[in-house]
Amino acid sequence: MILNPNVNWGNHPDYQQLNYTILGMPTAGTFAEWVAVPVHRLHEKPSHLSDEEAAALPLAGLTAYRAVFTKGKVKKDDAVLVTGIGGGVALFAFQFAHAAGAKVYITSSNDEKIATVVGLGAKMGVNYKQENWQKELTRKEYMGFQAIIDGAGGEDFGKLATLIAPAGTLVVYGTTAGKPSAIQLPRLFFSQATITGTTMGNDEEFAAMVAFVAQHQIKPIVSSVRPFDQIVSALDEMDAGKQFGKLVVSFV
Ligand SMILES: NC(=O)c1ccc[n+]([C@@H]2O[C@H](COP(=O)([O-])OP(=O)(O)OC[C@H]3O[C@@H](n4cnc5c(N)ncnc54)[C@H](OP(=O)(O)O)[C@@H]3O)[C@@H](O)[C@H]2O)c1
Repeated sequence: MILNPNVNWGNHPDYQQLNYTILGMPTAGTFAEWVAVPVHRLHEKPSHLSDEEAAALPLAGLTAYRAVFTKGKVKKDDAVLVTGIGGGVALFAFQFAHAAGAKVYITSSNDEKIATVVGLGAKMGVNYKQENWQKELTRKEYMGFQAIIDGAGGEDFGKLATLIAPAGTLVVYGTTAGKPSAIQLPRLFFSQATITGTTMGNDEEFAAMVAFVAQHQIKPIVSSVRPFDQIVSALDEMDAGKQFGKLVVSFV
């Protein structure tokens, strides 16, 4: 079984109700041998996944699914840009958009991660540590990207806004890189572009995400699996940005 981490999303599909919380925030989460949840939070694990792969899926998979499909409206042949591919949500966003038949481009600070994801089917990757990294993307997709999926914000946010295709969408789900830089507003309104935020996803999206993963036989990328008594080393690895994929903690 896998757990839907939503608690009290509510009845409106577009936004969560005021008493919405996430399993683990602010209550105790799944760094535990036993977790008690209402039975309606349980879903069948797709049979092609190991327990460790299934454990990596719920929260990041749900966030990516809503960002890519509900908010980004990604479809076959769209040009899609996913930033910071070392992130857990970003990797799922790549896998989902790629499975849907989109042309997926990525950014990363790490050339090895770029090469790995190009090997998995990304069209191209650029290193966002290089100055003017966005120009390389413009050369490939001069009309821009129908959807940009970003969890970083920060200094490069203004550049992302210049990469949106006419009537395209920049979807924001995080602020890893801090406050966003300025946006050229004329560029934004002349291209009829949308910048939208997203958080997690409703229960229907969770069920749809699990079904999509089963249909496309998508395997979450697991960076490492370790026992609970070594959890601090997992947090150190994440802090240093060394991981590629999800860090899974095992209790068996
Ligand atoms: N809204 C929601 O529901 C939701 C859900 C989950 C997470 N989040 C938020 O989303 C963000 C990502 O979380 P996560 O757990 O998926 O991943 P994470 O492990 O926190 O992501 C770290 C990755 O961010 C990338 N990054 C760092 N600085 C960057 C920059 N300046 N430009 C582009 N990418 C940069 C790096 O990718 P490279 O190694 O490739 O350089 C790094 O590996 C966090 O801010 C988190 O709080 C939001």
